[in-house]
Amino acid sequence: MSDPKPFCNASIIGTGSYVPTKVLTNEDLAKIVDTTDEWITTRTGIKERRIAEDDETTSDMATAAAQRALEMAGITAEELDLIIVATVTQDMFFPSTACFVQRKLGAANAVCFDINAACSGFLYAMQVARHFINTGNRTTALVIGAEKLSSLINWNDRATCVLFGDGAGAAVVRRDDSQADDVPGRVLATIMGSDGNLTDILKVPGGAAAHPVTPDNVNDNIKTISMEGKEVFRHAVTRMKEACEQALERAGLTADDVKMVIAHQANQRIISAITDRLGVPPERTFINLHKYGNTSAASIGIALDEANRQGAIQRGDVVLLVAFGAGLTWASSVIRW
Ligand code: ACO
Repeated sequence: MSDPKPFCNASIIGTGSYVPTKVLTNEDLAKIVDTTDEWITTRTGIKERRIAEDDETTSDMATAAAQRALEMAGITAEELDLIIVATVTQDMFFPSTACFVQRKLGAANAVCFDINAACSGFLYAMQVARHFINTGNRTTALVIGAEKLSSLINWNDRATCVLFGDGAGAAVVRRDDSQADDVPGRVLATIMGSDGNLTDILKVPGGAAAHPVTPDNVNDNIKTISMEGKEVFRHAVTRMKEACEQALERAGLTADDVKMVIAHQANQRIISAITDRLGVPPERTFINLHKYGNTSAASIGIALDEANRQGAIQRGDVVLLVAFGAGLTWASSVIRW
């Protein structure tokens, strides 16, 4: 690679997504735990979610989404020089899920690693890729958010098992050297934040090094999602709204300029609370959580790809992405589509 040219721009040139075929509806869940379609719909907006097969891994889903993104971008896997997978449900502790994706794609020239920022993972990964590109260090990155959250669910806990689903979303991000400010897909601004004081309100407490699963605790569900729902809700609304405002300000834009808000698809009420506060009407808010539930790091990638393929976002539109997740973590990106 030649000497880096500093301060290049980064643009999204292709998107892709994948969800498993198996559908788990609210009615199906009502047969497993004490819940109803009415409760889940009213509190969250979710109607159904997708569940991966037992032998379908996070890297399988990530690879399927990536292949669609590469196809749209019109590039080969060999052209990739960076693959970042955002996930909390990696195939193994190591190697990284990104290395499995590299092998499955045949992306021999890429540097590969995973990041964990929970539901903010896709936007964190986009920003990491953007920085690699901005400095001239890499030219063509594959960013993937992929999750097999069904592997972390306590199917006896009605407060959490109704919320989550499996899937993957991907974007190809490439260096653009144009001086023009209307390059399609260009990332105009990104805001990121974290608050490690609130690690306890949303976590999978066990199964890793701090609290391994042992014969004594194997039935305690320590390797499943534990959440203080109301607290998460409250922080999500505050942080996501602030992140949107800060990213728009950095881009020199206002909420009136935004054609579509694509928020982390956790809960309809969280999204409405944010867009109401921003003054963005529902018709400028993309929603697909009724079909997939909360797919954590995959959610924004899947929604961005669906919005793109359905024509809900068009070339030149200002698109506002915003995420929030465990950590706590949050992020927002403004893109000129
Ligand atoms: N079906 C029926 N009743 C239920 C269910 C269910 N699936 N789950 C909980 N309940 C009951 C509770 O037991 C409680 O009963 P009680 O009053 O007799 O004690 C009652 O419903 C109210 O429970 P709350 O937890 O207070 O319900 P709330 O209105 O806060 O809604 C929810 C819960 C949907 C989880 C909400 O807090 C929320 O969306 N929080 C955000 C969390 C989130 O989205 N997390 C995803 C991960 S983080 C992220 O991605 C942003």
